[in-house]
Amino acid sequence: LKKINIALDGFSSCGKSTLAKALANKLEYTYIDSGAMYRAVTLYFLRKGIIDGDDVQEDKIDEALSELWIDFFYNPETGKSETLLNEENVENEIREMEVSRNVSRVALIKKVRTRLIGIQQIQGQAKGVVMDGRDIGTNVFPDAELKIFMTADTDVRAQRRFEELTKKGASVTLEEIKANLADRDHQDTTRAENPLLQAEDAYVIDNTNLTQEQQFEMALGWSMEIINS
Ligand code: C5P
Repeated sequence: LKKINIALDGFSSCGKSTLAKALANKLEYTYIDSGAMYRAVTLYFLRKGIIDGDDVQEDKIDEALSELWIDFFYNPETGKSETLLNEENVENEIREMEVSRNVSRVALIKKVRTRLIGIQQIQGQAKGVVMDGRDIGTNVFPDAELKIFMTADTDVRAQRRFEELTKKGASVTLEEIKANLADRDHQDTTRAENPLLQAEDAYVIDNTNLTQEQQFEMALGWSMEIINS
């Protein structure tokens, strides 16, 4: 069977990773969460004091990037792929608000993007990858055989993210999440380097009123059509 790459882009908290994981699972492909990579770099920069309040210490970025390595491993206990930063499992920490508040700012930095895109392109070389993010179909894998662009109503996205975080025991308010989503959408769509953009040849899923099952069936249908063609 022919192996393809699937690029899944869209706004924050649209359910990209849920769909990407389900597709990868069904097709027996590798799922890669590119947002987790930007989050891991952000966590590293916060720990090193490279970002501190509004300050970014530009002169320390090269060294920091040369020291860090990001990897994923399958954790049989949780049944999930988790993020490693220099071999430390940071999967939970990178989802915290402190990282969410700073990640889009770090994702603006050209050196950071160049480094991460390089890693992502290597990960996709052998095909059979489902990668979700913001610039996968436009920049990382412009030749991906299938590109999907996801969107949903902002209030619906905020509510979903709120439920996800409170279920994990985080103390956040819906307002805080809404503000964070609006802020990240703005930064992601207006930045100079690789902004969030719908690829011309992308299939669009607006999942405001779709179940996970419905989205999965649509995406699997497109995948199989391409794989079998
Ligand atoms: O996907 P997630 O919301 O975890 O991504 C966190 C942030 O990383 C996004 O808000 C965006 O600023 C950045 N990002 C990016 N390019 C990607 C994936 C994520 O700029 N391919």
